[in-house]
Amino acid sequence: MNIVHVVGARPNFMKAAPVLKALGTRPNVRQTLVHTGQHYDAEMSEVFFDQLKMPKPDISLAVGSGTHAEQTATIMVRFEPVVLEHKPDWVLVYGDVNSTVAAALVCSKVGVKVAHVESGLRSFDRSMPEEINRVLTDQIADLLLTPSKDGDLNLVREGIPRSKIRFVGNTMIDTLIQLLPSAANLVPKDLPSRYALVTLHRPSNVDDPIALRELCETLAWLSMRIEVFFPVHPRTRRRMQEFNMPVDSPGLHLLPPTPYLQFLGMQQHACLVLTDSGGIQEETTYLGVPCLTLRENTERPITTTMGTNVIVGRDLGLLRAESLRVLSGDFRRGTIPPLWDGHASERIADCLCNPAEHQPAPEPAASSVA
Ligand code: UD1
Repeated sequence: MNIVHVVGARPNFMKAAPVLKALGTRPNVRQTLVHTGQHYDAEMSEVFFDQLKMPKPDISLAVGSGTHAEQTATIMVRFEPVVLEHKPDWVLVYGDVNSTVAAALVCSKVGVKVAHVESGLRSFDRSMPEEINRVLTDQIADLLLTPSKDGDLNLVREGIPRSKIRFVGNTMIDTLIQLLPSAANLVPKDLPSRYALVTLHRPSNVDDPIALRELCETLAWLSMRIEVFFPVHPRTRRRMQEFNMPVDSPGLHLLPPTPYLQFLGMQQHACLVLTDSGGIQEETTYLGVPCLTLRENTERPITTTMGTNVIVGRDLGLLRAESLRVLSGDFRRGTIPPLWDGHASERIADCLCNPAEHQPAPEPAASSVA
């Protein structure tokens, strides 16, 4: 079987690494790894390949940054000849970034089958580019591999036949489980015993000067109560410079983007994580670390119903109140969602290599999808 994997942005790498590994153990599987180059800085890409022990990409499309249209279109133009030349049995796409939908669209037009890893997640907020990427990718994919049961339900509601959907679990958690022991040795030695960890990169938080200023002021407020470590995404750093943001509180430490293992170790030992990322909501849930999400919604509701995640949106009063509550020790410990067990990638390999043994679950009762 001939499989092409497409990755492009930082959050794709940890989702794809264990799938490559699992398929690598199956007989008669040939794999080709394509990196679109959506993320290209060494600290946003190369270091992840090294730490995740991923093979170097076989093909680099080197698309770089641009508007959504430029980036999506350039990936499509450069990926199409790859598909035509390699004639894969399956193309695997990951998550919800522009590279995901661009590669899926190419395949749907040339009649090559697409499997979407992390299918079915919905924020129901179509102002987010990622939501458009998710909905479109799922509409054209041939195999929809969901990380949680809410994903199955969303897909069925959107009219996707049950026969295409497989609940396999979360491949990002496979990576976490495999690499947590290595992360322990790489936690920076000078970290204090109690600290908060922050990440911010969503356009709604960082592209608007008023929103970003208010967030920076709130981080300065928090840093007077607990030391705050903030690895800054390139987009956010650019905006901070452009808007001349005040970030000079002594307890607020700005860091460059942090490699996977160091960041994982820092998450594991944090008292509190503040984020607008999707994946970090899941990692904190697995680790049992309280997470406050600086977004109005989440496409990962299981992290709020079963896990440690609380959505605070743009309500900075709520953010302060919830932070104080967590720092006083008052937070829900949560539980680990079903099939976040380290074996999701094996199940994906089974779905592709032994499809007869991996049939979908029975149709849900009509009342539950109304
Ligand atoms: C992208 C994804 C987002 C994901 C995030 C993780 C889309 C629509 N968005 O957002 O879902 O959560 O990745 O990081 O696909 N830049 C660099 N170096 C890099 C990459 C980016 O300097 O290696 C800068 C550029 O100025 C670029 C900006 O960051 O224009 C934004 O990068 P882009 O990939 O367009 O979107 P992200 O905000 O990273």
